Amino acid sequence: MAAKLNYRPNRVARNLATGRSHTIGLIVSDIRNPFFAEVARGAEDAACSAGCELVLCNSDLDAAKQVRYIQSLLDKRVDGILMHSVGGLDRPQQENLSLSGIPVVLLNRPRSASNFSTVTADNDEGGFLAGEYLMKLGHRRIAYLSGPPDHGNMRDRGRGLIRALAADAEANHPVILRGPHNFRGGYDMGNLVLTRLPDITAIFAANDIVAFGVIRAILEAGLSVPGDISVIGFDNVEVSLISHPPLTTVHQPKYEMGRAAVDMIVQSAGEQGTHLPEHRTLGVKLMERESCAPPRARSTV
Ligand code: RIB
Repeated sequence: MAAKLNYRPNRVARNLATGRSHTIGLIVSDIRNPFFAEVARGAEDAACSAGCELVLCNSDLDAAKQVRYIQSLLDKRVDGILMHSVGGLDRPQQENLSLSGIPVVLLNRPRSASNFSTVTADNDEGGFLAGEYLMKLGHRRIAYLSGPPDHGNMRDRGRGLIRALAADAEANHPVILRGPHNFRGGYDMGNLVLTRLPDITAIFAANDIVAFGVIRAILEAGLSVPGDISVIGFDNVEVSLISHPPLTTVHQPKYEMGRAAVDMIVQSAGEQGTHLPEHRTLGVKLMERESCAPPRARSTV
């Protein structure tokens, strides 16, 4: 009968009846990073199968912008919030969000004292795999190009790298540089390595976009990858397959991360205030391509 009358359930009425808005917020730091496109794709697929819609917000790691988005999502009574960055929130702001009763899942962030669930890749293990691989190729002078100091997963990747290097008495502690974790940041840090650190033979970039910036700096200087210097990334974004040279990198399950986070929200929807935080760690693996090779003396810049 409903079909005959071309009846469509009124969303507002359904939301009032169920106490749910069937909307989930996803806050990422920079949508230009293709890593987030793949996470968002997994989240959207899971949301769509659960009859929910996804609202995408770009925080730029700007604390004020992030707080505004969180408030606006709470006003919309979203069923839950997925966040990639909480670095910008101070402890009281995190506690307020936790007290709102809205399920929050942190993506790829360490467990925090607040009541948030987490879905993360094994970042420490990924850093270890990158270090172990470079060492097997014979590299002992390695630079790690990281992101901002409060970027927890990049810190974990650096820790894994240090752990791998510690296994060999000949390897030095990696040189760690920090900068914006985007193409420009990688380009600038890459130039710094080229001009100030002539003994570095391999670079571990904290993500693929940083690696692309580094490779650009190396090629512009008339050097080659991996002939003069090896570069390994992290994320395994789709374009790393078609970059020049194809990028050796650490794969993290981006799509699965987005899906798993939405599944957690959907499961806890309707239990506001009573859900217990859940923590899931997903495995990583090394993708060996063409941007790393055994070390050889660098041609002069
Ligand atoms: O902040 C973005 C970065 O963190 C991504 O490139 C990915 O590595 C994530 O974990």
